[in-house]
Amino acid sequence: MKLTVIGTGYVGLVTGACFAKLGHTVTCVDVDTTKVELINNGQTPIYEPGLEDLLQTYAHNLHATTDATTAIYQSDITFICVGTPSHKDGSIDLTYIQNSAAQIGKILRNLPGWHLIVIKSTVVPGTTDTTVRHLLETNSNKHANTDFGLAMNPEFLREGNAIHDFLTPDRIVIGVSDQKTADTLRHLYTGFTCPIIETSLSAAEMIKYASNAFLATKVSYINEIGNLCKTLNIDTYQVAEGMGYDHRIGRAFLDAGIGWGGSCFPKDIDALLAWVKDHHTTAPIITATRTVNQNQPLRLIPLLQKHVPKLKGKTIGLLGLAFKPQTDDIRESRAIPIATELLKHGAFIKAYDPQAMNNFKTLFPTIEYCTHPQEVLNSDAVLITTKWEEFSSLDFTGKIVIDGRRLDEAKKTARIYEGVCW
Ligand code: UGA
Repeated sequence: MKLTVIGTGYVGLVTGACFAKLGHTVTCVDVDTTKVELINNGQTPIYEPGLEDLLQTYAHNLHATTDATTAIYQSDITFICVGTPSHKDGSIDLTYIQNSAAQIGKILRNLPGWHLIVIKSTVVPGTTDTTVRHLLETNSNKHANTDFGLAMNPEFLREGNAIHDFLTPDRIVIGVSDQKTADTLRHLYTGFTCPIIETSLSAAEMIKYASNAFLATKVSYINEIGNLCKTLNIDTYQVAEGMGYDHRIGRAFLDAGIGWGGSCFPKDIDALLAWVKDHHTTAPIITATRTVNQNQPLRLIPLLQKHVPKLKGKTIGLLGLAFKPQTDDIRESRAIPIATELLKHGAFIKAYDPQAMNNFKTLFPTIEYCTHPQEVLNSDAVLITTKWEEFSSLDFTGKIVIDGRRLDEAKKTARIYEGVCW
């Protein structure tokens, strides 16, 4: 099929590249000419393993442009993959979605024949059926469900695993409100062997939030159990293993530590809670999930002070700055509140991360960045904040290690070892 993808951020570009791999003709649209040029040169503006390869291998059926009108005229389906950032109060900022819907509406006005518009961006429940539908209909002077199709098809892509997650998903959710739209999307996803779940537009939107909030809750839950385990000298990882074999629970997302960060969980949970407030209701579990997560990274500091009571003038090593391994993304990284707190106490920081140091430098320009992780260990104590595989081969002998991510090698060899919640 012929597809237009609006927005070449992480979701849009992965979506476009994967559909190109599956044999579709894809046009990626972005207002940013630098990004458009990069993509057309087979380069990616973001770090995602395997993405550049796809852009180069499938360059014959993927190209980028700033011209949305021509792209949409020449395609059957348009995916909206623009960002949905947060307002200051945490609520969702729909500006880019609104601008895209209005622009597409204007293009639809003169477009002969039927076209399908699919929202892939994460939007709070009700957005597609109200805001998006309204903007498309008023700007096109046409009707959804008859003149054009409207769908909500959330993404479940993990950074660092996005291509694998796109090509071999656990499920595909298609929120629709008419049969032709459902049939068209089922046709697009022919060949995928996972369940394809057909829902209402708003249920599809809610599935995305409910999934992310559940995963975040699972992590906060095991962290809370871990905090209890720590006081009783119980190994939380043994507890997680024992729980995980119960197929109703599962072992995934029970890695206790300093909590969740990234561009998705924090933003989505804030947006969901702001939406809950807007609807004059409450969500005590999700609220607690966030509270546990806000407190969790700072638990490293008193543990550190147990062994290095006065932090002023001491050198503290930080191993890992990205919000998780395999990414250079530091958005809401747990290393941020920890570094802030250390500096507040007057400590010097020596840090290392294989991918994220340049990004971290923009927030913390004055701390020392090392060229090798072993240099970080040349300090009064070391905090492990991201579990990069290469940290397993470091020599922790004789060191004080306060571990936020459960690095077994450090546990075995450090002189003094404290896990954040085990
Ligand atoms: C998350 C979801 O996993 C994806 O399904 C979803 O599509 C994506 O958000 C999104 O909404 O776009 P991602 O943000 O890439 O993906 O990161 P995850 O791999 O889920 O990790 C999130 C955070 O939880 C990380 O900081 C990680 O270190 C932490 N985590 C995860 C734990 O602390 N313990 C665990 O057991 C698992």
